[in-house]
Amino acid sequence: MSDRPSVAFAWPVTASVGPGLEGAVAATTRVSSVGERGTLEIRGVPVEVLAGRASFEEVACLLIHGVRPTEEMRDELRAGRHLPEGVAAMVCSLPRDTHPTRMLRAAVSALGCFEPPGEDHGPRIVGQVAALAGVVARHRRDLSPLRVEPGASIAERLTAAIADGPADRVLVEALDLCLVLYADNGMDAPTFCSMVVGSARADPYYNVVAGLSALRGPRVGGASELILRALLPIADATAARTWVRNRLDAGQRIPGFGHRVFRAPDPRVAILRERAEALAVRRGDRRLLDIARAVEEEAGARLETRGIHPNVNLYAAVIFHLCGADPEMLPCLIAVGRMAGLVARVGEYLAHNRLIRPLCRYVGPAERRFVPLEER
Ligand code: ACO
Repeated sequence: MSDRPSVAFAWPVTASVGPGLEGAVAATTRVSSVGERGTLEIRGVPVEVLAGRASFEEVACLLIHGVRPTEEMRDELRAGRHLPEGVAAMVCSLPRDTHPTRMLRAAVSALGCFEPPGEDHGPRIVGQVAALAGVVARHRRDLSPLRVEPGASIAERLTAAIADGPADRVLVEALDLCLVLYADNGMDAPTFCSMVVGSARADPYYNVVAGLSALRGPRVGGASELILRALLPIADATAARTWVRNRLDAGQRIPGFGHRVFRAPDPRVAILRERAEALAVRRGDRRLLDIARAVEEEAGARLETRGIHPNVNLYAAVIFHLCGADPEMLPCLIAVGRMAGLVARVGEYLAHNRLIRPLCRYVGPAERRFVPLEER
């Protein structure tokens, strides 16, 4: 038994583990807690308390450093936005119709080539990924990267990059809220992938590429793209209800619903619904919001009893759209937020690292005789 610190568990932990490692405990953590009854607390602070009161930078610092953020911590995070010229040039050399998540993945890999290997670049990576997402968003529209403005917030520059106009305060605040609410999601697939790669002592850019790769999948962050793509062509609330019924009757999933841990309503949904409502009213455009509400009601009536509720992606998709993002950009925007929790959790694990190396139970054939080629 090692002397590694433990929080709620003592090692070794015994648990009943289902397919997809459901129920397995991979690590102890002080970063956040995700409760199946619908609670999300970051360093002990409920996400409902942080929402609208703390900026993304503050929440990222809280996640990563575990203390009240200082100016220096915030500046370190933002400083990551100064990218090497070669990285922006590399992104701009990619075909503009490349999927943005592919561009972001390639950009993080390229960035790793400019950084000294083996160093802990933790908090800076959050700023770097934010800047890269902005470069990607603009390159897709054949626009050159925005200048770095050291005093501007991450949400401010990201909003400017996706909207390509002045960063209206209300849009910036809405995007900032989304980044805060995406910042941590417990031991989700992107975080766990990063942790596995980190446990092999690869450098941080390998870890982040692994995490981004998982985040892109339609069962995780990619669901946001799918839900926005599905909602946009729907004419009205009645058509939205029909879309839900047809999909469920055909045995298909509704993106933006379900969560491995939350079996009760995801606490982020009510916060985002309210903000989407305010934003829609302000922009005089309720169409998508009304469609999302109809989807929530119709799918909820069919799925709620099975513990499947809307997740963070449903109303965040509406907000991102109102901020000017197209569906393909959504997983990249989510990645910016999630980077904070991912860096925090991987850093926490690596402080007491042990290679992550689980077992597999062999269920193949019993011992068989091997006949060399010349004897067959
Ligand atoms: N719509 C309809 N049915 C669903 C949904 C959904 N969104 N999610 C799960 N189910 C059903 C499955 O079809 C399955 O039904 P069956 O038992 O009849 O075959 C049952 O629920 C269990 O499905 P699992 O995939 O085993 O459930 P799990 O708890 O592992 O699912 C997941 C979690 C992957 C997120 C799932 O809910 C899903 O695919 N949702 C849609 C994609 C999505 O929105 N992902 C974002 C997650 S939140 C985040 O990443 C921040």
